[in-house]
Amino acid sequence: MDERKYIDDAVSAFRALLEEQIKRQDKMAAAAVGRGEDGAVKKEPVIIGIASGDGIGPVIMAEAVKALRTLLKDELASGKARLKEIEGLTIENRLSKGEAVPSEVLGEIKKCDVLLKGPTTTPKGGTLESANVTLRRELDLYANVRPVQVPGEEIDWMFFRENTEGEYVLGSRGIEIPGKLSMDFKVTTDAGTRRIARAAFDYAKAAGKTKVAIVTKANIMKKTDGSFSRICHEVAADYPGIEADDWYIDIMTANLVNPAVRRDFQVFLMPNLYGDILTDEAAEIQGGVGTAGSANIGDRYAMFEAIHGSAPRMVEEGLAEYANPASILKACEMMLRHVGFIEKADALSEALKACMEEKKVVVTGTSGGAKAADFGDYVVSKLK
Ligand code: IPM
Ligand code: MG
Repeated sequence: MDERKYIDDAVSAFRALLEEQIKRQDKMAAAAVGRGEDGAVKKEPVIIGIASGDGIGPVIMAEAVKALRTLLKDELASGKARLKEIEGLTIENRLSKGEAVPSEVLGEIKKCDVLLKGPTTTPKGGTLESANVTLRRELDLYANVRPVQVPGEEIDWMFFRENTEGEYVLGSRGIEIPGKLSMDFKVTTDAGTRRIARAAFDYAKAAGKTKVAIVTKANIMKKTDGSFSRICHEVAADYPGIEADDWYIDIMTANLVNPAVRRDFQVFLMPNLYGDILTDEAAEIQGGVGTAGSANIGDRYAMFEAIHGSAPRMVEEGLAEYANPASILKACEMMLRHVGFIEKADALSEALKACMEEKKVVVTGTSGGAKAADFGDYVVSKLK
């Protein structure tokens, strides 16, 4: 194809993307936001979707379901809560249907109030979009909320990562002129930024926090990160007593490994990709990505998961049963809190903390460590 033709095609593709993204922003701007004072969804019966995922997913999810069945014994018996098995969110089914989340699977997920999801595999390259990205978009889960704590070091961080736009929204729809160049797009909308900023500042206010760190690279990504930072500051003006500070992502990654300053951070607010990267770093400081849970929150739906992937390498090496279920158990705790089962969430949190501190059963991700099932049983034993 001659170069002219590539350029013409790219220009018309870009026009269509712009029109689509403006429509998306307008829809968000028009939507009424809010889930009530404490942010909890109170609905009866609450329907909890369970999707095991791929790789180590089924192994760690089995432990999550074990803990949920123990914690919610009465609620499940009385019909106050229901667990609904979601089938077909596997790499085999997704590849065979050629859909990141096959439409019938999405239909079943939409019948639930919240979804507990095991990690799902995304092939590198090709055209299949990540199931996470699809679910976050289709369920409009705009706030990715990730807590990280290291009590011994007085680290108590809460990350608010924008979850539906930035580098991700058009990540599978860039432009390529073979042999010459490729171009991806990053999109920051006003309404999309405003809603994640509100979520972060509302949390800060409710939790009695005094500082929010806005993390960008606005010195380089002047348009997208520039407006992200500006809008976050506009939102911050509605929260007197909470200080909003700008940080660049490079120095922030350095600060997180600097014990002299890191304990001063409280709440982090940032665009999608920086949040992806920074939260893996933070999780590692807590004890590894296998220890960190993640909430994807929207106004109607919410999805809870581990922050890590499906670990195909562990599966290949025959180590799947040694995967750490602490991450998905932490996600369970966040889910229970979200649906208003506060005491159950507290009980799971206490049990997890006790298991981490006592270190009687230690999962290392290697065959020298404990198995996921042993750790799951240990946590359940603390619940009784
Ligand atoms: C995460 C994961 C996902 C992401 C992947 C699986 C698409 O790394 O939840 O942090 O990049 O958001
Ligand atoms: Mg990640």
